[in-house]
Amino acid sequence: MTATNAERFAAALSQTAEAIEKTLDACLPPPVDIPGEGPLIAAMRYAVMGGGKRLRAFLAVEAGRITGAPRHGTLRAGAALECLHAYSLVHDDLPAMDDDDLRRGKPTVHRAWDEATAILAGDALQTEAFRILANEETHGDALVRARCVLRLAEASGAAGMVGGQALDLAAEAGHAHQDAAAVKRLQAMKTGALLQASAEIGALLGQAARAHLEAISTYAAALGEAFQIADDLLDVEGDEAEVGKRVGKDAGAGKATFVDILGLEGAKARARQLADEAAAALAPFGEDAALLSAAAYFVVDRKS
Ligand code: IPE
Ligand code: IPE
Ligand code: MG
Ligand code: MG
Ligand code: MG
Repeated sequence: MTATNAERFAAALSQTAEAIEKTLDACLPPPVDIPGEGPLIAAMRYAVMGGGKRLRAFLAVEAGRITGAPRHGTLRAGAALECLHAYSLVHDDLPAMDDDDLRRGKPTVHRAWDEATAILAGDALQTEAFRILANEETHGDALVRARCVLRLAEASGAAGMVGGQALDLAAEAGHAHQDAAAVKRLQAMKTGALLQASAEIGALLGQAARAHLEAISTYAAALGEAFQIADDLLDVEGDEAEVGKRVGKDAGAGKATFVDILGLEGAKARARQLADEAAAALAPFGEDAALLSAAAYFVVDRKS
């Protein structure tokens, strides 16, 4: 019996997750027993280790693999991306934002510690991401590292994740009219940008030719759009225990989503179409890109 692409992807994702756990453990500051610093480091480790699908890391590692990047560097980049992502989750869960008490099946950081610790742990995870990425161990060529750092900065700040979070809050507060184009832009910034940068950073570490970098970028943009639609679908249809976070919150909060605009079936069809588009963009890589292609379908079929 031969494994399907989905099965090969599941095995590769769990292998990456294991390697990322070790890389994070080695890169993050070790636990200390010092007032203030101890809880800060413990909260950082709690937020980024021992959970999450590790999809951003997988995209960097796999885009790196098919473009010939050394594995050690792509794992470090993957760890950096997971730090940045974990910071975004810690802050997203704060009372001033989504006010959530459950993340990855555990109490959120501000519940397990307090708000100040959650703010600081998020801050420190953000800078930790740039520290890991910029370190010489990630790639020997300073220009390659600078390109990676630039992509991460672009994807994370006001033009990316943070800007998208601001648009998200404004939409919830009813300050903006949300048509399909507005929701698409909001989600591309909030979620798509970091997923896209993850795959691109892998290809930058592989010093991929421009056409290959563009193919990976197009792939990851479509995957990113599908990813947030699937997240919004999970909020409606997902099982809390399986998803590991509270569900059924978005509609009441007045969150702008494609489920709202297209309905459940329309949103599902749109996500599937985006996975097809993502897979099609990988044509220049042929069979080499089978795992990345499977990742796009995983994104829409996932239950957590
Ligand atoms: C959740 O991201 C936040 C969004 C961008 C929608 P993930 O679903 O990738 O979260 P983890 O890392 O697997 O917990
Ligand atoms: C947040 O989107 C995406 C981030 C940038 C953290 P959501 O608020 O929908 O993410 P979840 O559902 O809490 O994971
Ligand atoms: Mg949010
Ligand atoms: Mg949230
Ligand atoms: Mg959500």
